[in-house]
Amino acid sequence: MDVKALLNQMTLEQKVAHLSQFIARCIVHDEGGDITGPSRNLSLTDEELASCGSVLNVAGAEHSIATQKRHLEMDPNKIPLLIMHDVIHGWRTLYPIQLGLGATWDTDIVERCSRMSAREASAGGVHVTFAPMVDLVRDARWGRNMESCGEDPYLCARMSEAQVKGFQGDLGDKTSVCACVKHFAAYGAAEGGRDYNSVDMSEHTLREYYLPAYKAAVDAGVGMVMASFNTINGVPSIANKWLLDDILRGEWGFNGPIISDYSAFRELKNHGFSTGNKESARLAIEATADIEMMSNCYVKNLCELVAEGVVKESQIDECVLRILELKNKLGLFENPYRNADPELEKALALCEEHRAIVREAAEKSAVLLKNDGVLPLSADLTKIAIIGPYANMGMIGAWACHGIADEAVTVYEGVRALNPNATITLAEGFKGDLNEEPDYKMIKEAVKVAKKAQAVILCIGELSEQSGEARSRADINMSKAQIELVKEVCKANKNTVCVVFNGRPIILTDIIDTVPAIFTAWQPGTEGGNAIANLIFGKANFEGKLPMTFPRHQGQVPLYYNYLNTGRPVVGAKDRFYSGYIDETNDPLFPFGYGLSYSSFEIGKPEFSANEMTREDSVTVSIKVKNTSDVAGKATLQLYIRDLYASLTRPVKELKAFKKLSLDAGEEQTVSFEITEEMLKFHTASGKYEAENGEFRIFVSDCSNTEEYATLILK
Ligand code: BGC
Repeated sequence: MDVKALLNQMTLEQKVAHLSQFIARCIVHDEGGDITGPSRNLSLTDEELASCGSVLNVAGAEHSIATQKRHLEMDPNKIPLLIMHDVIHGWRTLYPIQLGLGATWDTDIVERCSRMSAREASAGGVHVTFAPMVDLVRDARWGRNMESCGEDPYLCARMSEAQVKGFQGDLGDKTSVCACVKHFAAYGAAEGGRDYNSVDMSEHTLREYYLPAYKAAVDAGVGMVMASFNTINGVPSIANKWLLDDILRGEWGFNGPIISDYSAFRELKNHGFSTGNKESARLAIEATADIEMMSNCYVKNLCELVAEGVVKESQIDECVLRILELKNKLGLFENPYRNADPELEKALALCEEHRAIVREAAEKSAVLLKNDGVLPLSADLTKIAIIGPYANMGMIGAWACHGIADEAVTVYEGVRALNPNATITLAEGFKGDLNEEPDYKMIKEAVKVAKKAQAVILCIGELSEQSGEARSRADINMSKAQIELVKEVCKANKNTVCVVFNGRPIILTDIIDTVPAIFTAWQPGTEGGNAIANLIFGKANFEGKLPMTFPRHQGQVPLYYNYLNTGRPVVGAKDRFYSGYIDETNDPLFPFGYGLSYSSFEIGKPEFSANEMTREDSVTVSIKVKNTSDVAGKATLQLYIRDLYASLTRPVKELKAFKKLSLDAGEEQTVSFEITEEMLKFHTASGKYEAENGEFRIFVSDCSNTEEYATLILK
């Protein structure tokens, strides 16, 4: 399609309307033919709706086909709609939430999950997914932790590109969907962990930690970018010309459409950044924002701004062209329905192949935090108790798209399927409310059930509804009811295993000494119960590693492994005048990169090909890893670097590479990493991104808390 010719045939009013995005309900009228509620609230005319360029949140193939058909009948230029949706961790077959994906440290499974979900979503009529969400987060209180791959820029960046590759593949292939990376930028740094809150940070911190995962998506060819709700240093992202035009388009070369978050244009007034919708439209177009989601600043004001000479028509043309070009890449002009097909959608939903992928992801995402030897449970058990309100509940997490909790395999169902001859008894124990007080009658009942069983599986943590957008928590402790239940049940039965469901790091300090074994399963998705049962009974091995630090106390938040040393670090015995607390240590309960397995690994001393390097060469570091157990398993080798002295203080450790290694029982392998100048670079005091000469410490281990290092000199 000659999109420039198409643009030339559009009137200014039509072009402006093309920049709007509304929910799909606005476009397909009520049965009576009236403009529906949301469109009425936005005072949209039939003409404006007819030329609208995109919609969000379709309800599946049939709805998508009907929406597109209706639109093509109305649009004078017959330009197909771009249909967008939040396909975050699956369409109908759900994989674990993103924090769980981060815990896999496995870009291959993450890419396969995204591919699987693109297949389903494209059959459901989706062209663009509002994913991946790659906001780096250091604050466990924020509700949207669950959508993020965690606290580390390198891990988040690798997961970001894996998701983009998986969703998009080749955009011309109708089984792909275009990815829209979000929320640009630094939304995860919302002050106090409060959703939508402001962000105030230095450009150095922004570039060093928060931007790399978005950049990785752009480098991987992401088709769209969503600007975030938050301000950065006083400027809301959708009106931030420096962020959108200078960095994203200028420095990084992104030339696809930029979309706002939901009604973020209109919110510029609430921020106190614009006096009203007209000024918001001007500010956003100056920042090169292309699509306005669910408000009407562009559509109601841009024509007037052009007439007044404030905005040039060519600015609007550029935005429309970017949208038309994406439509062209997706093949919408040839086939406006693309892959939408109700039969195919039905056939793919929950199909065996997709179930196998999400089950594998759920197994890989679980992180074993403690095991006193209770796990794995024996396959010969005849009496098992499963306790907790989540025992027989599908744990699919927020942003479950078209997934249905009742379709997800529960822990009870998974354990039942693996142990068809065992007697399995359920007890609730607590209700699952936030901050709930113990109900001693329920606890007593649970204890009774626990006493009669040979082993107990205790399901605790958070409900899916307790994390996600607008689900920040000031208190990230477990409720008193859960703590009390854990104590009583563990007293009643020493063979107790705790499964934690969570969308964020929650504080496990009150129970960690009591429980013989505990692992976090996040919100594991459709096959959660089967994956959990496989892990508990040793049919699958644990290999997940924490993508976020688990604090010991919520007052430590934000707590992360790549902190700066300060002038008064805690070294050895606690001194009064040090950077810490008088009532708590600085240590986390579980550090970033931590996770146990049924295998045990012996990690040798790193050997270097040289102890010095120049900018022209690289150094290879090799390390022997041995599986000293009689169980095959996977080790995750993590390479951290510390730049000891630099023009700006550098973190005590930074993840620069990782590799997963499959080792049979007793097997030994050597793993090698190449250290290049690129890995030593940072945003220096002079504003450049470069490596400075000097001393670097290199750590290779299977957790971030290692203290062993070797020194490398860059000359
Ligand atoms: C969220 C986005 C989402 C959008 C559309 C907003 O409230 O912040 O992440 O993509 O809604 O559903």
